[in-house]
This record gives sequence, structure tokens and C-alpha cells, in this order.
Amino acid sequence: MCLRCNAMTGLSSRSKPHIPRVIRGLPALRFALARWQARRHKIALVPTMGALHAGHLALVRLAQRRADRVIVSIFVNPTQFAPNEDLTTYPRTFAADIAALTALRADLVWAPSAETMYPSGFATRVVPEGPGTAGLEDAFRPHFFTGVATVVAKLLIQCQPDFAVFGEKDYQQLKVVTRLARDLGLKTRIVGAPTVREKDGLALSSRNAYLSPGEREAAPALHRALADGAKKIAAETPIAAALEEARASVERAGFTLDYLEARHADTLQPAGSYKEGPLRLLVAARIGKTRLIDNVAI
Ligand code: PAF
Repeated sequence: MCLRCNAMTGLSSRSKPHIPRVIRGLPALRFALARWQARRHKIALVPTMGALHAGHLALVRLAQRRADRVIVSIFVNPTQFAPNEDLTTYPRTFAADIAALTALRADLVWAPSAETMYPSGFATRVVPEGPGTAGLEDAFRPHFFTGVATVVAKLLIQCQPDFAVFGEKDYQQLKVVTRLARDLGLKTRIVGAPTVREKDGLALSSRNAYLSPGEREAAPALHRALADGAKKIAAETPIAAALEEARASVERAGFTLDYLEARHADTLQPAGSYKEGPLRLLVAARIGKTRLIDNVAI
């Protein structure tokens, strides 16, 4: 019997509201997983920090295409924020998140407390190398990937998913967790999902909510610079010249650049020419109080 429709009655179960079960403790999570595993259901996990937008919902839809059951984790992970970053102000919209996941018919929301994830005396960290030390996000947010890798390793161990879906928008993160799942011998296959964009090209991000109207107007310049730069590199303009132009156009739009770099798409190592590809063009830049990241394939 199809898991997402009621084949016995012929009634589409999509017509009935389906509030995902919210689980906050490990014993209840293990119980739910054991029932699904006994029925040989394939399980997918979509890890999030909440404040769900259309980009997250696209990840959930992709997960539903791969698996019989979809878990969405919602946990604002304190260890991936530096003391000067936005942990306390990070948008928290739990009721709206559950409403969106109800509309999508997600199966389960794993929403552990900080105490469940980091119990008193917690003393273990996963420190990624390889793509995690490529000199991109890690150069500007040195704490970030250890926090992400530690929490993602925990989420994968807790939820035991067959698949876990991560957005390509956080491209270095996607590479770090792909390496992590392989290196730790986890059964989970990491699946990357294309970036969802506004009509004007701005990549969806929970942090777009911080932009003032003027900053929001300037923000699509980031994607435009990437798209133009990628086109030039693919047409074999020397990488250094294409990067210089792209960086200048981002700065003209009012951003302060952290980096705008062309890297090998798998290793994230610097690339000398288009022929060394596949390549990826990645940017991080600040406008006002908001730091945005984006990337495109070349
Ligand atoms: O991309 C995110 O939202 C977070 O970094 C993640 C993967 C949920 C870990 O906290």
C-alpha cells in the first residue's frame, strides 16, 4: 500500500490534515524510528534551524521523493555561532514552521532541547578538515564547521536516515557533511538540493529577513555577479580577471566582500583554469548588518 495515500479506501490522504508528530526526547524518537524500520520504510532527514522558507520546503519535497518517511529537524545549534554572531536574534518561528510542514505532510519533527543535544559535561567535537578547511567560510567563521559537523553527526546518528538533504546554497557545508558521512562510515547518503531563488535571483535564506528595503534592493547584485563571472570563466576568460570584475561589481552594489572565489566543485581547492573543472564560484559578503552567501556552478 502506498504510504502517502490510502489505497484501501481510495481516499487521498493528502485531503486530510496531517500534523507532523513533534518529538523532543530521544526515547520517543527511537521508538518511532524502530516502528518505521520494522516496516522497512526508507527514512530521509532534512536538518534545519527552523525559520522555514520555500528553500527548506523544496528540501522536504525532495526528501519525500526519495523516502517513505521524512523527518525535519529543527534545532538552532548554538555551537555554530560565534559569541559576536546572531544566535539570540536568529529568527524562531516554530508555530509557522509546523504549519508549513503540516501543509507538506512531513511525518515527524525532531526538535530536541539544547540539553538533549549538549548534555551537561558534553566534551566531544567533530573537527572537519578537507573541504572544511578550504579557506572560505572557515576563514571568516573559524568555529562554524566544527559546530555544524558535530551537530550533523549527532542528528545523523540519532535519526539514522537513509538520506539527508542539504541545500546547495551552503555549498561548503554540503561538501563538509558529505565527507563527514563517508569518513564516519554512516549509512546515510547525503543529497544536495539546488538553491531556490527569488525572481530577481536572490538566494532564499532565513537571514534575508534582516535586510532593510534598500539592502534588499541591492542584494540581487550578488547573484548577478556570480552568474556573469561564471559565464566569463566558462568562456575561458582568465579566472583572475573574471574574479576581479565580479568582486568590483559586488562592491559597487554596496557590499563588503569576505570572499569571491572560483574553486574545484568537489575539493574546494583553488582552480587555475576552467579546464581544471568542474568549478564552483562562491561568494560571501556583508551589507549593513547582514552577511549573505551564495554560489553557482561554472
Ligand atoms: O544549514 C543549516 O541550517 C544548519 O547549518 C544545519 C545543517 C541545520 C546544522 O545546524
